Amino acid sequence: MDATALAANFENKLAKNENIEPKDWMPDNYRKHLIRQISQHAHSEVVGMLPEGNWITRAPSLRRKMVLLAKVQDEGGHGLYLYSAAETLGISREELLHQLLSGKAKYSSIFNYPTLSWADMGAIGWLVDGAAIMNQVMLQRTSYGPYARAMVRICKEESFHQRQGYEIMSVLAAGSPEQKAMAQDALNRFWWPTLMMFGPSDANSANSENAIKWKIKRESNDQLRQRFVNQTIPQAELIGLTIPDAQLKWNEAKQGYDFGEPDWEEFNQVIHGNGPCNKERLGARLKAHDDGKWVREAAAAYASKRKLVAA
Ligand SMILES: [Fe+2]
Ligand SMILES: [Fe+2]
Repeated sequence: MDATALAANFENKLAKNENIEPKDWMPDNYRKHLIRQISQHAHSEVVGMLPEGNWITRAPSLRRKMVLLAKVQDEGGHGLYLYSAAETLGISREELLHQLLSGKAKYSSIFNYPTLSWADMGAIGWLVDGAAIMNQVMLQRTSYGPYARAMVRICKEESFHQRQGYEIMSVLAAGSPEQKAMAQDALNRFWWPTLMMFGPSDANSANSENAIKWKIKRESNDQLRQRFVNQTIPQAELIGLTIPDAQLKWNEAKQGYDFGEPDWEEFNQVIHGNGPCNKERLGARLKAHDDGKWVREAAAAYASKRKLVAA
């Protein structure tokens, strides 16, 4: 097929909502967009293990510890599926890791905030995983096959994460005044950074237009943010916590809430490496990479030995 026929074939598949698979022809910019998006997503899963990993040794009971451990392990697994999906686009795992460890790659800004109390485990599960689900449900129908399939399993696990977080928050909110205050404080700190997770407003989002055109994304940042707010407010009310937004108001006409604007200057600072924990997070990843060097070397030595035996 010549270039025009290949391009027509690609457009045709998109129009019919058929998946694009690794061996199919695709425009260079589509491939680049996906490598960027999937690898940022993978990095976010892996860096996202750090703020919660911080609390595994301090979980208040054995049950809480087991649940948190399982949740953090899930996130590691999500990173692995997503790195594998990115590799099908022709980039190596080494290169992807190099981009993260050299500070070149971005990951979700939310993970550059500190986790100061046990209630933060509740707020992260409830809000951060909740926001992640909003994005990821739509990605189960994304146009690139390996990414869409990875998201199906990830979404099942994310809804468990969201529920375990909400359960922590509801237990704290129904507890002593100190426990309730701790839950409210966690909500106060994580609310705005969570709204920023959906990315800039559609009008200011550089990559949104192509993502929609190529059916990588099927809903806009603002639509998803609105849905998240609509879903979360009644959950906060049910457990007696207050959303820290003076502008929050039900809008009968749009059948949704009006809400305040996140601080986009803060978002830009965090994205560009100046958040409260950027250096700490990258430092922890670099240390883990160095600590794992002997494992990679041993695995490579074992693999070449087995090759010799087989030959
Ligand atoms: Fe995840
Ligand atoms: Fe999660």
